Amino acid sequence: SRIAVFASGQGSNFAALAEAERAGLLGGGRIELLVSDKPEAPVAKRAEEAGIPSLLLRPKDFASRELYEAEIVAELKRRDIGLIVLAGYMRLITPVLLEPYGGRIINIHPSLLPAFAGKDAIGQALEYGVKLTGVTVHFVDGGMDTGPVIAQRSVVVNAGDTPESLAERIHKIEYELYPEVVRALAEGKVTLEGRQTIIRR
Ligand code: GRF
Repeated sequence: SRIAVFASGQGSNFAALAEAERAGLLGGGRIELLVSDKPEAPVAKRAEEAGIPSLLLRPKDFASRELYEAEIVAELKRRDIGLIVLAGYMRLITPVLLEPYGGRIINIHPSLLPAFAGKDAIGQALEYGVKLTGVTVHFVDGGMDTGPVIAQRSVVVNAGDTPESLAERIHKIEYELYPEVVRALAEGKVTLEGRQTIIRR
């Protein structure tokens, strides 16, 4: 399937997915487009280096969130994109994208949802003092880090962990887990039926 990755920041997950594709680990999944709402973000350079086309738009150049997304949907249709992979895309999604791509938009979040949704999940986990956190991949709905869970991996919090040391271990898991889930989706092994994630082997 033809994939668009949406990202706003560093793009290390974008890079991990592009690398997984090169290594043949995405099955039939092909990353055809980067979409970013932050044209100056490092992820844009990563796409350029990987030879992946990008659509870089500033939401504030549009009269509404809906018009911004309508422009994205037009480009996704032009490129026949079938799967949207959010990787550090720091915006809520409206029905303009959710309706045409229902059950075909996923997100990755650095905690065991529903714990620590929103910004700085790693900082929130340290602040709370949990001994176990992790990574969640889920289908996207209109909420922030809500939607049916597809996969989770746990990461132990060590005594003395700093935000940086914990983030490093969490990111390592993200770079493994996200390509696996994208591959399963590309192969039709994961689908959304109503609010239920269905996984076939
Ligand atoms: C990742 O930790 C991801 O889980 C979260 O945002 C971060 C993005 O990092 N949604 P990067 O831009 O992929 O480096």
